[in-house]
Amino acid sequence: MLNCAKQPVNLIFHGSSPKVFRPIRFLVGHFLIIFAKLSYTDAMTKLSVRHLLGIKNLNENDIHTILDTATQFKEVINRPIKKVPSLRDITIANVFFENSTRTRLSFELAEKRLSADVVNFSASGSSVKKGETLLDTVNNILAMKVDMIVMRHSSPGAPHYLSSRIPANVINAGDGTHEHPTQALLDAFSMREKLGDLAGKKIAIIGDILHSRVALSNIFCLQKLGAEVMVCGPSTLIPKYLADLGVKIGHNVKEALQWCDVANVLRIQLERQQIKYFPSLREYSLYFGITKAMLDELDKDIVLMHPGPINRGVELSSDAADSSHSIILNQVENGVAVRMAALYLLAQQ
Ligand code: CP
Repeated sequence: MLNCAKQPVNLIFHGSSPKVFRPIRFLVGHFLIIFAKLSYTDAMTKLSVRHLLGIKNLNENDIHTILDTATQFKEVINRPIKKVPSLRDITIANVFFENSTRTRLSFELAEKRLSADVVNFSASGSSVKKGETLLDTVNNILAMKVDMIVMRHSSPGAPHYLSSRIPANVINAGDGTHEHPTQALLDAFSMREKLGDLAGKKIAIIGDILHSRVALSNIFCLQKLGAEVMVCGPSTLIPKYLADLGVKIGHNVKEALQWCDVANVLRIQLERQQIKYFPSLREYSLYFGITKAMLDELDKDIVLMHPGPINRGVELSSDAADSSHSIILNQVENGVAVRMAALYLLAQQ
């Protein structure tokens, strides 16, 4: 890859070519330019980590490196030929012990766009149901010559546990209520695309903070990029330790919307709640739900985000989710480029 990329494009495709070959020449030429750019990135930048376990473990330079590399991959996936051979001969297993739509498909597409070989594992329907341990399951997958593991698990710390016991790179695709690093990176990428440099920008994270891995990863990521962060929700859904992380804490959603440049709204994670944290979903929606009218009333532009899945009519009305303030589907689009960047950079380690 590197040798090929270092060849100037016009040396490989010198002179005139028959008309019929020109579209091929155009596509391959542009392909090599992107290739060369990515090789340049490779030479210039390395991550400080071997695994992507959480944003807490990344430094500011790592985050900028991933976001800048993702900008180049976004260019790639918007071209007619969306594939580059960067991870050819690398095999990646997506090991999901919890449900997922966006993260799982996004990782799989990212891997395929990078020409990796991909296998998918779901705990449901696997031998985990017969009592096999996490480590045995993953070691059996690795015995089939797999190089990288992307894992979602309901237990906080599960990817950290694995990373110290296996030779492969591990990417955390969400571990319980702990971290979801690639979600925070794609959120930061989407905010940066909309607002530019995030230093000094005000981001409100609104909803069920207590049970959200997206909240913690977003807080770490945004603070490392110099943004101000507020969390807003019922006091029962905001853990007390957040005050020690230097975030503002609010309980009034209208005040939060008035304060922020970006509202990143989280769903109520009923599947993780063992007790009642508020009287009813109807009451939650009444006090903390966001409607388009609330966004339109503001005397400024506001960016509305949500990591998905949305519970329409609970944390967001349908007209807010589908409004011009919303960049929710841009987040999903950007997820593929950001995950390509994370996979590509980790594979260089
Ligand atoms: N945002 C997110 O993690 O969505 P999924 O649970 O569908 O992967």
